[in-house]
Amino acid sequence: MERIICLVVGYAFGLIESGYLYGKMNGIDIRQHGSGNSGTTNALRVLGKKAGLVVFIGDVLKTMIPCVAVRILFRDDPPMGYLLTLYTGLGVILGHNYPFYLKFQGGKGIAATAGILTSLDWRLMVICLISFVLVVAVSRYVSLGSLVVATIFLAWNCVMAGSYGIPEAGLTDYYIVAAAISALAFWRHKANIVRLAHGTENKLWGNKK
Ligand code: G3P
Repeated sequence: MERIICLVVGYAFGLIESGYLYGKMNGIDIRQHGSGNSGTTNALRVLGKKAGLVVFIGDVLKTMIPCVAVRILFRDDPPMGYLLTLYTGLGVILGHNYPFYLKFQGGKGIAATAGILTSLDWRLMVICLISFVLVVAVSRYVSLGSLVVATIFLAWNCVMAGSYGIPEAGLTDYYIVAAAISALAFWRHKANIVRLAHGTENKLWGNKK
């Protein structure tokens, strides 16, 4: 039952679509511009640096608030806290990527993933941050940096589940939710992956789409 509540509450938080709202405040539907994504990268691309920063902070916060609340609520049962943080984060990503009131056309869930991993373990946050910055600095592909983060997220959780005290019986559950979060990132980046393979992906600076 707790799992379903976390998914539903997470989904509700995910509906706070920072990119879409910021765009509307500036008179546009951001999904009609740039890559059509309602997230940080497209806000940066279409509306500028300030927009990118505000949208990123908004999307990270909307994820961290329910995730950290779960960690606090379950402070006497840390393994359950870790597991439910993943469920809550998965809910946020589903709400963010598939907002019902925007005909299920939202973002790609990377800032939300950053919010989950920050709520989960600061060491994971540091590793992902450094990896993301390095990959983007070298390649100029934000999407590639995002996919690297999604991969590290899954690998880390597979390796660390035991040390988080997740009981044997709960490991499959934990792995499945971690894999779902990572898989959603890849799924939402389908078009980016095709463009990366063809060398036509949008760069953070340089070409515009
Ligand atoms: O976080 C989204 C990023 O990885 C790609 O965004 O707009 O270039 O498809 P975009």
